[in-house]
Amino acid sequence: MQIIEDPEEMQQTGLNWRCREERVALVPTMGYFHEGHLSLIGWARQNSDRTVVSLFVNPTQFGPGEDFQDYPRDFDRDCDLAREMGVDVLFAPQAQQMYPGNHATWLQVPELSKYLCGASRPGHFQGVCTVVSKLFNIILPHIAVFGRKDWQQLAVISRMARDLNMPVEVVGRPIVREEDGLAVSSRNTYLDTEQRRQAAWIYAGLERAREWVAAGETDAAAIKDRLRRFYQGQIPSGQIDYIEIVDSREIYPVDEAGNNALLAVAVYLGRARLIDNILLQGE
Ligand code: PAF
Repeated sequence: MQIIEDPEEMQQTGLNWRCREERVALVPTMGYFHEGHLSLIGWARQNSDRTVVSLFVNPTQFGPGEDFQDYPRDFDRDCDLAREMGVDVLFAPQAQQMYPGNHATWLQVPELSKYLCGASRPGHFQGVCTVVSKLFNIILPHIAVFGRKDWQQLAVISRMARDLNMPVEVVGRPIVREEDGLAVSSRNTYLDTEQRRQAAWIYAGLERAREWVAAGETDAAAIKDRLRRFYQGQIPSGQIDYIEIVDSREIYPVDEAGNNALLAVAVYLGRARLIDNILLQGE
């Protein structure tokens, strides 16, 4: 496995592969790999000739007071895991290489960034869109693979790629969960034992809500209210950031949990801000 820091060297490598008609897959990450990353990497390996994993804790997608400085990092372990997974290139640039002092260009998908994490984390998706489009331009992948835990991120990036005619197929892959249902996340490492125990109720609540819908309750306000009370009972140490039911493609709140309704939540447990989601009907 090659480790490349320099964006120009990475671009040359991507160009060479493209010229040889090799199919290139990118898995963009911020490192500290867990089973979720490994499943994306495994899928990328199976569906391409070359797999690039980018590892970059992107400063521009963190707001003031968020966990940029503390974000968990373990470069050596990530290298070992990527090597074991058969990754061709680990692209790990420095912040100055990605954002020279006079960086002045930003991308946004405002229509899909108004609610959920876009509302709670102003500027977050501008940072995500900008860095992901830079990664697309540097690595020149045919496919880019993202997890569905960050559903809104996936919707935003898919729309950006489509609207700007980026020659990249954006693929979303299923959420990987711990045995008790908690979605795997680098931020789970922030949880102490009691917080970790309570965190399992986040997904349990989403499953309950799906059952309420299957039993005939489709009023979004009623479902959100019931879930809020469920979380207050089961996750007493948690602080709910949002519980929202949105159109899964356009990411705006809906009144009825019909087809394409996505229930998305963000809950603070101590320092960890945990997000999860479920489609309320269908697959
Ligand atoms: O999902 C993430 O880890 C990040 O938002 C991403 C897509 C790597 C961009 O920094």
